[in-house]
Amino acid sequence: MTEETTYYGLIGDLCNYLEYQRDEGVQRLEVDRSVIEALAKEESEATIAEAVEVEAAPIPENIGSLEAIVSHVSACANCELCQERTNTVPGEGNAELPDILFIGEGPSAEEDAQGRPFVGKAGKLLEKMIEAMGYDRSDVFITNVVKCRPTNNRKPMREEMDACLPYLRQQIDLIKPKLIVGLGGTAMEGLLGKPVGITRMRGVWQEYAGIKLMPTFHPSYLLRDPSKKKDAWADLKLVLAELGKEPPARK
Ligand code: URA
Ligand code: SF4
Repeated sequence: MTEETTYYGLIGDLCNYLEYQRDEGVQRLEVDRSVIEALAKEESEATIAEAVEVEAAPIPENIGSLEAIVSHVSACANCELCQERTNTVPGEGNAELPDILFIGEGPSAEEDAQGRPFVGKAGKLLEKMIEAMGYDRSDVFITNVVKCRPTNNRKPMREEMDACLPYLRQQIDLIKPKLIVGLGGTAMEGLLGKPVGITRMRGVWQEYAGIKLMPTFHPSYLLRDPSKKKDAWADLKLVLAELGKEPPARK
């Protein structure tokens, strides 16, 4: 493990922890000055990967087909996230009027390595959630707000999400899902363009691109706090009800 990984990995964990605290309703945090100084020192010592020169061409308004979107994304340099990705992760699944489109935050290590969304631990849980609803992973479409991995699992920044959203908008126009499920506060923030408290917003219908959008917890959050699974399940049942369906009997 390099210095850089250790440092940014730590920051990633810290962000996750703080997010968790926020979702738990913690509003104030006491931080020792020595911690802030140590973090600042580490940063200046961390190796920052050399920036790759890229030419940012604007994303065309009407790319036309899902295949063309995939190839545009693979050559995209519209935001900083292009610089350290291994593979772009455009999304996959049933692209012909699926009942549900799931939208996550952005690829992490496993997704970046494979070029496929939700194939790591969080993906396994998402698959279970989909199956509990009576679907197969291949029945729905799965993608993310950003198509390239933010280094060391940091959250994508608002500018990066804004830069990437034209792809998602066009995917939605082509796929025409009946409903959308937004996974986690960051994905919801990207979609709605404003900060979101997922604990309060989950379970309450929103709208994106003229389609009903159900916010729920991100599977990574559910892995950290399994006690929240019942809330997520309540949200998914609302989605099923909206589709006129009932969850299948538990096996
Ligand atoms: N988390 C996400 O938000 N998206 C993925 O594709 C994987 C993990
Ligand atoms: Fe392009 Fe989206 Fe990747 Fe940024 S995250 S480089 S906008 S595909």
